Amino acid sequence: METILLSDNEEQLSIAAGLIRKGEIVGIPTETVYGLGADASNEEAVKKVFAAKGRPADNPLIVHLADFSQAQEYTVSIPDLAWKLAERFCPGPLTMVLPKNEKIPMITSGGLDTVGIRVPSHPVMHRIIELSGRPIAAPSANTSGYPSPTSAEHVMRDMNGKIAAVVDGGASEFGVESTVISIESEDRVRILRPGCVTREMLLELCGEVIIDHAILHELEAGQKAASPGMKYKHYSPKADIIMVEGSLRDFTEYAGRNMTSGTYCLIFDGDEEDFPYRYLTYGRNSSEQAHWLFQRLRELDDIGAEKVYVRAPSPEGVGLAVYNRLIRAAGFEVIRI
Ligand code: TXA
Ligand code: MG
Repeated sequence: METILLSDNEEQLSIAAGLIRKGEIVGIPTETVYGLGADASNEEAVKKVFAAKGRPADNPLIVHLADFSQAQEYTVSIPDLAWKLAERFCPGPLTMVLPKNEKIPMITSGGLDTVGIRVPSHPVMHRIIELSGRPIAAPSANTSGYPSPTSAEHVMRDMNGKIAAVVDGGASEFGVESTVISIESEDRVRILRPGCVTREMLLELCGEVIIDHAILHELEAGQKAASPGMKYKHYSPKADIIMVEGSLRDFTEYAGRNMTSGTYCLIFDGDEEDFPYRYLTYGRNSSEQAHWLFQRLRELDDIGAEKVYVRAPSPEGVGLAVYNRLIRAAGFEVIRI
């Protein structure tokens, strides 16, 4: 199949929406990362998404809606707390796991009786949902296991020949995927995947915000995942990623002792003065690091890095999302100095 590249004008967005209505798959920009969009209510279309990504069938897809009130059409019930959170954070990078009804096929929810609902703020994704008139299931548009795409070019690299089209809407603003939460009571939520809606932001509306253990720790054999995505290796470039926690000086010394010909470092902006080894930088603060991380992981593969020492980010605020993606990319290999 030939994958066409569409721009983000109204006429091209109608083409994209038409393809979705016909059961085709389209790469679509969102404010977090690019998604592989399909009609969430069309089982054949959803099957194609799993095939294009090489995604395990038990890993559910998030359903994207134009407005949170539409969630009533696809769920059994919506807790008051979800409405309150929606008022503050929708549209935006928040996904709420809610009990689904029969309008969401089991294949979309990976066999679960819940569905992740998200209302994206990106005008292109928003418009395609409106024009198609369908709920849009969209996982990140990467090959399963590889870093998520933050540009149309990344999507083309992973999906060329496997999907009908990609819409180019420029670089993704946030750069990491949405925060995924489940609602445990009218006052308590659990973060299943950290993102740019942070624990601190959620605490303004919830009495208790639990960070699921699997966000920073490897699941033990036989342990049940609160979210199926936690079970799988993720965000990994071809290069071997090793996180190193410590001061710049400790980091530099450690890297120096372990450098080989294929080794690179991924350090903070501001660290580079006199830095003696081959490096890329990924930002100065957590928001910049979120924005650049996946782009840099892909670039490291492009330049042929075999091993990468990454200066570990602060796990505070948005940094928790960056730390979570990196520790998974590193297969939980962290050097603490
Ligand atoms: O920002 C995002 O969320 C992007 C853009 C495209 O919207 N999408 C995205 O989808 O990251 P995906 O499929 O790559 O990641 C969805 C994550 C997976 O880890 C999945 O296991 C979890 O959300 N998830 C989805 N539905 C769930 C459910 N019903 N219960 C628990 N976890 C769920
Ligand atoms: Mg993904």
